[in-house]
Order: sequence, then C-alpha cells, then structure tokens
Amino acid sequence: MTASASSTPLESRASGPLAGTIRVPGDKSISHRALILGALAVGETRISGLLEGEDVLNTAKAMRALGAKVERTGDVAWVVHGVGVGGFAQPTATLDFGNSGTGCRLVMGAVAGCPVTAVFDGDASLRSRPMRRVLDPLSLMAAKVIAGGEGGRLPLTLQGARDPVPILYRTPVASAQIKSAVLLAGLAAPGITTVIEQEASRDHTELMLAHFGAEIVTTAEGPHGRRIALTGQPELHGAAVVVPADPSSAAFPIVAALIVEGSDIVLPDVMTNRLRTGLFSTLREMGASIEEADLRGDAGEPMARLRVRASKLRGVEVPPERAPSMIDEYLVLAVAAAYAEGTTIMRGLQELRVKESDRLEATAAMLRVNGVKVEISGDDLIVEGRGHVPGGGLVATHMDHRIAMSALVMGLASDKPVKVDDTAFIATSFPDFIGLMRGLGADFV
Ligand code: S3P
Repeated sequence: MTASASSTPLESRASGPLAGTIRVPGDKSISHRALILGALAVGETRISGLLEGEDVLNTAKAMRALGAKVERTGDVAWVVHGVGVGGFAQPTATLDFGNSGTGCRLVMGAVAGCPVTAVFDGDASLRSRPMRRVLDPLSLMAAKVIAGGEGGRLPLTLQGARDPVPILYRTPVASAQIKSAVLLAGLAAPGITTVIEQEASRDHTELMLAHFGAEIVTTAEGPHGRRIALTGQPELHGAAVVVPADPSSAAFPIVAALIVEGSDIVLPDVMTNRLRTGLFSTLREMGASIEEADLRGDAGEPMARLRVRASKLRGVEVPPERAPSMIDEYLVLAVAAAYAEGTTIMRGLQELRVKESDRLEATAAMLRVNGVKVEISGDDLIVEGRGHVPGGGLVATHMDHRIAMSALVMGLASDKPVKVDDTAFIATSFPDFIGLMRGLGADFV
C-alpha cells in the first residue's frame, strides 16, 4: 500500500460535545501474539476480539504460510490450529508484513527457532526501519541472514536454526519487540533463554506464554528493569484468548473527549496493564477526568470501563522512564499538551525516531503547521500549550496511522479545520476509527 496509490484525505472540524459509548478494537500487541502463539501451540486456540486491522491480518497470513491453520469463524472470532514449538513448515512465498514492525519482528523470532528459511518484506515505511536490533540476538541463537538485509533492512531472507542456542541477552533499548523475538526463538532452544531489560517494556508475550503453558519466570532487575527466564522446548497447549480493547487506540477518543468542551464518553473493556497506561497517568496529572469501573481480567491482562469527560488541562513534565509504557501515545499526548495551559516537556523520546515514521519530527511538524509552538531539544519534545489551537494546517501522515488519527483529533476543537493528506493507513490498527468517531459526534468531512 502506498500513500499515492490510495490517498484519502480528510478534514476535521470543531465539533459539538462528544457523547456515547464505543468499543475500540482489540489490542494490536495481544492480537499478533495470540496468532503467533496459537500457531506454535499444539491443539486449538480460540481468539475472541481479535483486531482485524491490516497489521494483524498480515500476521495471520504469515502463520498460514508457515503451516498453521488459521480461520475466521465470526466477527472478530478466530481459531488457530498450531504446529507445535519448532514445527513451522517451509513457506513457499515471501512473508509480507505491510506496515507492521511488530508482526515482522516477532515472526522473525518465531522463525529463528525453526529449521526453515523465510523471506521477510514490508511496505516502504517498514523497509526503512531497523531490523538489526532483532537480527543481532537471533544470530547469537544460530539463525542466519542469508540474503538481502542491506544495512539491516528489509527485504531479507532469514534461515532459522536447526539447533537454536539459548542465550542471556540484555536488550540495548527498552523494546518489547526485541524481547519477544528472543523469547519466541528461545521456545525451541534447549535450556533457559534469559532476557534482561533495564526498563520494563510491555509484558504481553510473557503473560501469554504462561497462559499457553510455558515455564517463564520474571524478577525485578534494578529500579525499573526486569529479568525474564524462559525454559525452552515446552509443549504449548492451545488456549482461549479474549483480546481486550486496545489502550493505544482508546487514546484517540480519550484525548478527543478531553479537549472538546462538554464531552462525556464511555469506553468498555480497555486493557489497563500498567506497562501500557503511561498516557492515562500523564493525562490525569494534567487534570484529566478518566474514571475506571468494572475492573476485571483475562489471562493476566486487566481491563476496565473508562468514562472520560472534557477537562481543563495543564502542562506537565513527563519523565523518560515512563516512555516504554506510552511509547505509541506521544503523538496524541502532544495534541492534549497543545490544548493545555502551560508547557509540557516529554523527555527521552529517542525511540520515536524509528517507528512507522520519525514520530519526533512528524509530531513537531503536525503541531507547527497548525500554529502550535513546539521545539525538539535533543530527544525531548517541548510543547507550549495555550489552551487553544489555531489549526488551518495540512498534516503529512508519512504512512503512519497514529499521525493521521492524532491530527484528526486535534481538528475537533481547533479554531480552523485540520486536514490530513491520507487516512488510508488508519486501517492498519483502527479500521473503523472514522465511523466510530463520527458516531460520538466528530465532524470529519
Ligand atoms: C509493540 C512494541 C512497541 C510498540 C509497538 C508494539 C509490541 O515497539 O511501539 O507498536 O507489540 O511489542 P518497541 O518494542 O520496538 O518499542
């Protein structure tokens, strides 16, 4: 998918109060993992609430290409029959992950532990993203890049290990993708694979591995870190997975409701794993009214019904150690910061440079073109909140779903409309974003 082939621009205009209840789609991280672990398990995995966005559908296709049976049995209901740990079949076609770094890197890990060779590719955005961060540890485990991989980029051919080696690996950056790739490769290795992270990243892989029957032990490491030890060669058993609503997708209607005067919305079943909710903590510090009710959990993942009401926001400082728990939310936080009174300083955002786009530059550009004063200082983003946003700008989405959605949210309360050049990539993570937001009262034309 290229921006030019299917560009669908949209304009967002100041709207009346947003009201109503919407269920945002299933969590993207958990959806990828449910398909991959289902494919590596013996027996049947029933998934309800799967995110049917392009990123996850590409992972489903890859699992089929690697020999698993993956079927859609109803609306967001899927069944996977797996091949067992180490049991992937040789794929006959390229595994194309489209826009998805998570799908691509996690499947690289899963393939690395199997005696098969696979070609990995993606769209222009994914081809520009660094893959060495997962290929380096995977080669220590005896997988090999045998073709392509110019500068550690896609397209590349990965040969999985016939006899994978368990390793102890310290991740160089807080990244659940790196951690998960190593753990998924470690499934097929004899002995214990250990990952140490200095800052804890989202732990969905660990929780789901335990749910499927693996022996996995997590202990604290330093003030913010974790040591995760996985015993290799378990028999994973197919399991039932209920996918909660994605907090990273909920972030958009939440910020929209906070900035549009008089709004009052409800979002059921939103995942509240504390390694994902840095945005909620930050918004509350800014003065946001976000209430949680109906708390429950499934397979170790907590969820709650959120009620969000329009709130007067003030600028805050966001510490760097919070970044892993809200890494995908800084764009929409920057929108909230623009509507706040006072300065918001977001520290330690170097990882934003290697997402679907360079999100540090793209966020600054999105705000600047709409009359907001913003500065990048090293790896920090500083937004001058004035309580209102002039708007009137055209935002370049750079093949990045979250830029498109953040810009559309910004336009819902700005003095002049905000335009985005292309909404096509929203389908990667939040297929019905436009329809659901219109249902709440958003004026998108
Ligand atoms: C994800 C991890 C994060 C995040 C991505 C999803 C995951 O990436 O940005 O959207 O599901 O593991 P990193 O682990 O590279 O920070």
